[in-house]
Amino acid sequence: MTYDAIILGAGGAGLLAAATAGQAGARVLVVDHASEPGKKILISGGGRCNFTNMGIEPGCFLSENPHFVKSALKRYTQWDFLGLVEAHGIAWHEKTLGQLFCDGSARQIVEMLLEECRRGGVEIRLSTPIGDIRHFDGQFRVGRDSAPNLVIATGGPSIPKMGATGRAYAIAEQFGLNVVPPRPALVPLTLGGEERLFKEISGVACPVVARAGGASFEEAALFTHKGLSGPAILQISSYWSPGEAIALTVLTDAASRLRAAKRKMPRAHLKAALAEHLPNRLAEALAEKIGLTAELGNLPDAVLDQAGETLTRLTFRPTGTEGYAKAEVTAGGIDTAELSSKTMEARKLPGLYAIGEAVDVTGWLGGYNFQWAWSSGVAAGRAI
Ligand code: FDA
Repeated sequence: MTYDAIILGAGGAGLLAAATAGQAGARVLVVDHASEPGKKILISGGGRCNFTNMGIEPGCFLSENPHFVKSALKRYTQWDFLGLVEAHGIAWHEKTLGQLFCDGSARQIVEMLLEECRRGGVEIRLSTPIGDIRHFDGQFRVGRDSAPNLVIATGGPSIPKMGATGRAYAIAEQFGLNVVPPRPALVPLTLGGEERLFKEISGVACPVVARAGGASFEEAALFTHKGLSGPAILQISSYWSPGEAIALTVLTDAASRLRAAKRKMPRAHLKAALAEHLPNRLAEALAEKIGLTAELGNLPDAVLDQAGETLTRLTFRPTGTEGYAKAEVTAGGIDTAELSSKTMEARKLPGLYAIGEAVDVTGWLGGYNFQWAWSSGVAAGRAI
């Protein structure tokens, strides 16, 4: 069959691009190898889909070209998507840090996108592997179907057990587009060697400031049997490069708190002073790491200041990440230098588009990645 556009991938980006183009009058086919559309939407946000964030800013996205996101985010904002959500009568709430979730279920977002596709007369073909793709006479041929426009919306390789693949990169390379090396992002970090101490406190969480690669996030960290996780760590993982250290502030104003503890409870040990502010098991592990065995009253202020310094800047050198199996997103991807920031169309090959996670754009945790899927999807959908 002949279409105006073939969209590869029925995730958030592909479905909204399809609906946008279809409602503007284009004949659109969406192809996906999965048995149902929007699988990542369904599992997102603990089943309630954190579908956008009130604080969307270009600075909350990583890319080789940090300016690339500006145009698409401005042309289709979080308020535009929220308007669509409300038009479909989906109740929502703000949880924390501007993160917007469905009151009910993530399935409402998938149903909304499918309804928008129906209104645009979009044909969605599921359980269909994408075979060879060819391009001649200005047409892209995918199996027996052809169209002058082809949209790569197959996402990145994060969570392969859900059907995620790196096919987007292979298609881009087939057509001569550069791909920024992909890597797992928003992913737990692994620790080894002397940092194993913390594995014994697996399950303990506490608020921290995490720093790496020039970024810092103030959220919760979770100690796991493999290393570190929790929102602060997932966020900082996107900025972390292998071999680098990450610094955690587990206790702010630690030195003055320890001096105060010395005056208040001179017979106590460091662990007791730390337990006033931190979970017990963490206080114990940190006291052991710092290694001060004397009573607080017998410790000079300078020694307490040094201990405070350690607590303000605990450094870890992760051995790696838990990989694509646990990564919420993939950083890197189709090089934005190859694409128009207004339409997502490839500069080298008119008619070829790339959107969503397949592109070298990665958002923070908290609804940013879906907003990129929506904004880039609408940009391409309008251009087709
Ligand atoms: P997406 O991966 O959604 O869609 C790609 C589609 O292409 C899929 O349907 C897939 O089956 C199909 N496909 C892939 N390879 C194919 C092939 N070779 N042949 C045919 N089809 C193929 N973000 C956020 O903003 N808020 C949140 O709450 C969450 N929560 C969250 C939880 C979990 C567990 C994960 C893993 C991820 C999130 N995210 C998130 C990230 C978010 O899910 C992600 O950024 C978007 O789904 C990306 O949308 P895309 O449409 O680009 O790709």
